[in-house]
Amino acid sequence: MGFELTKEQGMIQKMAREFARKELVPMAAERDQKHEYPAQSLEKMGELGLLGMLVPESYGGEDMDTVSYALAMSETAYACASTAVIMSVHDSICCGSLLRFGTEEQKQKYLVPMAQGEFIASFALSEPEAGSDPAGMTTTAVKQGDHYILNGTKRWITGGATSKLFVVLARTDPDAGHKGISAFLVTREMEGFATGRLEDKMGQCASDTTDLMFNNCKVPADHLLGKEGEGFKVAMSGLDDGRIGIAALSVGLGQAALDAGVEYAKQREQFGRPIAENQGLRWMIADMATDVEAARLLVLNAAAAKDRGEKCSKEASMAKLYASEMANRVAGQAVQIHGGYGYTKEFPVERYYRDARVLTIYEGTSQIQKIVIANEVLGDKKKKKKK
Ligand code: CAA
Repeated sequence: MGFELTKEQGMIQKMAREFARKELVPMAAERDQKHEYPAQSLEKMGELGLLGMLVPESYGGEDMDTVSYALAMSETAYACASTAVIMSVHDSICCGSLLRFGTEEQKQKYLVPMAQGEFIASFALSEPEAGSDPAGMTTTAVKQGDHYILNGTKRWITGGATSKLFVVLARTDPDAGHKGISAFLVTREMEGFATGRLEDKMGQCASDTTDLMFNNCKVPADHLLGKEGEGFKVAMSGLDDGRIGIAALSVGLGQAALDAGVEYAKQREQFGRPIAENQGLRWMIADMATDVEAARLLVLNAAAAKDRGEKCSKEASMAKLYASEMANRVAGQAVQIHGGYGYTKEFPVERYYRDARVLTIYEGTSQIQKIVIANEVLGDKKKKKKK
């Protein structure tokens, strides 16, 4: 790898790899088929510090850098993309938002147990009619005394049926566009909160995705995260981190597909010799390996920029765009190498192919990443706003 890791980063990668290959790989296919949430594995991940990697020790976390986090994420996804997406939403968007915007009381009450893996948190931004354009959300939060009353529906919520805490975005001012959105910490037991329908998905089936319904949901006023009107910023800065996580997830999945393709190409014989001896296959494997490596370097570049304290929206979006598209290409090629066997559940490439598909969709579609990148590269959006 053309990116020098520190000794500590190498050790974290090794620890995460050993855990994932031993604990997650043997269970991944069955969990996918049974749509079984990886509760026990997440408990062990909490004990290993994998659920509070970016949180300072003073709040119960591991205080690791983003590069280490990305490495651990890739190792987790190599074994099980479903487990990895739960980890990504929890570690980067949810812990990160609490860390950046939470009050001391909120941090003590929620961030500390989250970082120790006592429970998993989820992020509720999208709605039935507001996916790529979250500023068009219609879920409302109206202040009444010492509570906010939330009404509306959130859709595609990773962990909707299983998480205990949700970072929920809702509109506090109907006339203020993105400046009228606020963030709230909502727990499952709050009055008026309900989990809606469970999606029957193509892939990442061990991670549940549901609607969340708020029917006069009573959220204590001190559960406002950040200031009123600051919710869009909470969400967007959370997504910068989240996109590095999903990009790293994509790299792990791509590497798993590449390794499976290589192994199969070496042992599968046709025309009296291993198919790996055919130039057509060798070029395919060369393309796949180059693609995985390019994505890995973009992820590490984005993670390193974040670790230097730089604004990294462009780098995160570039990594997410390239790595998620890469995972789809490479998983597709791995299925192709396997021929008919790749189309069956006998080999893991069938799952990789399905699991990869959502990577170019959630946490911002590829088209949204291009908007972010183009805005940053052209630098003209802020100027237009000032006019
Ligand atoms: N950090 C902090 N603030 C940011 C920011 C960032 N990265 N990006 C934008 N903002 C702020 C801007 O500064 C601006 O604030 P001011 O007006 O005060 O200056 C405000 O947000 C609006 O910015 P834009 O005008 O650029 O916003 P926009 O309306 O044009 O939308 C967008 C930008 C990129 C299209 C955005 O809406 C977006 O990312 N959409 C995709 C949403 C998404 O990714 N959803 C994923 C759901 S979560 C999920 O999938 C999790 C899961 O389950 C796996």
